[in-house]
Amino acid sequence: MTSEMTAYVIEEHGDPDVFTRTTTNVPDPAPNEIRVEVVASSLNPVDYKIRQGAIPDFAPDFPATLHCDVSGVVDAVGANVTGFETGDEVYGMPGGARRQGSLADYVVGHAGTFAHAPKTIPLADAAAVPVVALTAWEMLTDKTSLDIGDEVLVYGAAGGVGHIGVQLADWFGADVTATASSDEKRAFATALGADATVDYTTTDVETYVEEHASDGGFDVVFDPVGDDHLQTAFEAVSPYGTVVTTESSSTQDLSAMHQRSLELGVVLVILPVLLGERQTRIGDELADIASLVDDGAIEPHIDERFSFADVTQAHQLGEDGSFRGKLLLRNE
Ligand SMILES: NC(=O)c1ccc[n+]([C@@H]2O[C@H](COP(=O)([O-])OP(=O)(O)OC[C@H]3O[C@@H](n4cnc5c(N)ncnc54)[C@H](OP(=O)(O)O)[C@@H]3O)[C@@H](O)[C@H]2O)c1
Repeated sequence: MTSEMTAYVIEEHGDPDVFTRTTTNVPDPAPNEIRVEVVASSLNPVDYKIRQGAIPDFAPDFPATLHCDVSGVVDAVGANVTGFETGDEVYGMPGGARRQGSLADYVVGHAGTFAHAPKTIPLADAAAVPVVALTAWEMLTDKTSLDIGDEVLVYGAAGGVGHIGVQLADWFGADVTATASSDEKRAFATALGADATVDYTTTDVETYVEEHASDGGFDVVFDPVGDDHLQTAFEAVSPYGTVVTTESSSTQDLSAMHQRSLELGVVLVILPVLLGERQTRIGDELADIASLVDDGAIEPHIDERFSFADVTQAHQLGEDGSFRGKLLLRNE
């Protein structure tokens, strides 16, 4: 095989046009790693936050190949790897934070950060799944447990994490109320399985709690917005309820938690990649998630498809927020 590949890299932090197309060496898998020929990646906010320099601690070394999500075909297997063979179709979250990511012809990552791809969706589309589904899964299974009929409020329901959160909570048998900023996004949330929707830009928290929660608040508030928005989540949850969030990098008044005897769960799905340990946590969860996709419990919604060469436009749209579900990037 060729020893060189195309990669889209950044040499410094910057705007969406900071990417350059370059030729670089194909990486070899170290022990416990596999090399994957990349079919597709997708955009997550962590990718543009790293590009912007907003979370410098997460950036791979420059020139940095970004993007965490990937789907593709196993091309080489390092020593000690069991469970994968060349030719396997896989999806995963091998890098893009502290180690090189997926916007290239090949990516190398710990075998534990991959699983066999779902069989019922195109291999390219599987790249829309890992980060958002791992996040929603950890929020709803690790950080809380749902009973049938529990009332769950899903913020950001039309976004990447939220659109999987609505489907998963619905699959667990919860009564789902979803928030979104437009009629189009609310209709999307209804189609995903939400029982009720709220335009949070025109409805205050007291009103939607009164209209959609029966016990002074929701049993679980699923919050992929976080930070200052956490205070709104604390107002929407019922006494003894749980708030699960993706973002707590801010200073907040926790007195509402005390007054309502609340639980707060925080996820950071990329942690095994950042730490370089416990990677099999990712692959094990992705194997369960592949089964959920194949069983029809969850389906990624891909709003728009780009080629790697159009990464600038994908990042512009991602930051603009005027899309539903996910933005996919194909290596073509
Ligand atoms: N910690 C982790 O492990 C982890 C993992 C994945 C993602 N994240 C973080 O979670 C966040 C969401 O990720 P994502 O992939 O879902 O992003 P996304 O696809 O861009 O979606 C974000 C959604 O949030 C909604 N939103 C924005 N501001 C809001 C507000 N003030 N109140 C209510 N809804 C609001 C937006 O829709 P509207 O038009 O309806 O406002 C949008 O649909 C990002 O900050 C990301 O970095 C963290």
